[in-house]
Amino acid sequence: SQVPIAINEPVNSYEPGSSEVKSLIATYKKMWAEKIEIPMVINGKDVKTNNHVRLQSPQDHQHDFGFYHQGDMSHVDQAIDTALAAKAKWNALGWEQRVSIFLKAADLIAGPYRDIINAATMIGQSKNVHQAEIDAACEFIDFLRFNAEFMTEMYAEQPISDNGIWNRVEYRPLEGFCFAVTPFNFTAISGNLPACMAMMGNVVVWKPSDKQIYSAKVIMDVLKEAGLPDGVINMIFTDGKETAEKVMAHRDFAGLHFTGSTRVFQGMWKMIGDNIHNYRTYPRIVGETGGKDFVIAHPSANVEAVATALVRGAFEYQGQKCSAASRAYIPQSLWNDVKKVMENQMSTIKVGSPEDPSNFVNAVIDKNSFEKCKGYIDRANASSEATVAIGGKYDDAKGWFVHPTVIETTNPQYESMVEEIFGPILSVYVYQDADWAETLKLVDSSSPYSLTGSVFSQCRYAIDEAYKALENASGNFYINDKPTGAVVGQQPFGGGRASGTNDKAGSKMNLLRWVSVRSIKETF
Ligand code: ALA
Repeated sequence: SQVPIAINEPVNSYEPGSSEVKSLIATYKKMWAEKIEIPMVINGKDVKTNNHVRLQSPQDHQHDFGFYHQGDMSHVDQAIDTALAAKAKWNALGWEQRVSIFLKAADLIAGPYRDIINAATMIGQSKNVHQAEIDAACEFIDFLRFNAEFMTEMYAEQPISDNGIWNRVEYRPLEGFCFAVTPFNFTAISGNLPACMAMMGNVVVWKPSDKQIYSAKVIMDVLKEAGLPDGVINMIFTDGKETAEKVMAHRDFAGLHFTGSTRVFQGMWKMIGDNIHNYRTYPRIVGETGGKDFVIAHPSANVEAVATALVRGAFEYQGQKCSAASRAYIPQSLWNDVKKVMENQMSTIKVGSPEDPSNFVNAVIDKNSFEKCKGYIDRANASSEATVAIGGKYDDAKGWFVHPTVIETTNPQYESMVEEIFGPILSVYVYQDADWAETLKLVDSSSPYSLTGSVFSQCRYAIDEAYKALENASGNFYINDKPTGAVVGQQPFGGGRASGTNDKAGSKMNLLRWVSVRSIKETF
């Protein structure tokens, strides 16, 4: 490797009572009380407006922790112009200079910014200490370090030459500017999307989710401190649809790196299509969108393993991971036992604010999400096809709290089995043991999505049957493990069908999309 060899950032276990957890919670409390003001960042400068939007935490909708400055279309223009103006100098910089900025950013997060980025993620996105740590600290650090290594490996890949000829390829950044649109649910993804495009030499306009403003600000602070030149990444807080229309009507728009909903991504793809005759170059389009991630257990499966995977896969971060277990197919012969183990495990789950690290489940992101979850629970309670088998409580008196809930249904097409919920609600369909092969077909056919999925079995033939029958049903397939928690450098992440373009995050396959290769033949 031409850069320091990447290894996955060790996860801090934040043992109860440890000095690490005390320090993180003290940082959380300090930041909670601070009343932060968050400007946009264009050309490296703070940009303020008269349009102040209150920052509220999902775990306490009465508490403002500050406000951010909402921009308008003039800021989108400024961000694009600034990015384009910064491009020539950024491109002239050697890759070693570029990459060292992102490696330094990783070190800053691993060190002095660790508590800050974790606390911002806990406050703004309602993650507990462990979920914040594996995301905002570890996964983001991993993206930065592994991408640096992948980039140098990619640059080293060269064609063969012959006597009298020297063939080579040059990995050029895209011609124009790139647009990053990022989600609330992973600080790491939010940081990685603009950062990896910039690492490959591109200039970027970045619109984070308005539910992730606080940790987005920390990402910009880190990049600035690491030495990112002004204008290379410009962070704007503007209306999503209007911004997309403006960006995609620009002649120099060269690439979209998106994580979010299928509907929004499809809308953007259409805008790109509508403008296709305007562009200097065909834009690269990379998106990770929705999911309806499955777990299927074979009658040979280990009951404890299935139950644990369902509890962790469905309820960690309130089921708001794009990879979360959301629909389960359990054989009749195992369901009573799986349910018992789940009930036992779920009875110990505490729900509440991340300020108390023993709260495993925190708040869902906002009122809309709360109402959506409540609707699924209420309708299941009233339905003749479904019952709320475990959980089913919700409480919005202080924050948007939905308790972990299992809906059991006799209809594999019941709404909660097929619709994306993005909350702590798992749906279970109990199948007859003899219907294993048919159930595999059902798993494949009953969702338009294809992001993650798991099979549980102790029978190698059954595993192979699932492996083949579900080959297009998920981009990340797990055997005897939960469908969440892909690690950078270990399980390249992404899915196909309505879940995205499957340009695996945290891999060379993704980075290749952000370069335009020049092939050179020289004859001596
Ligand atoms: N890395 C995240 C997961 O797999 C997206 O859960």
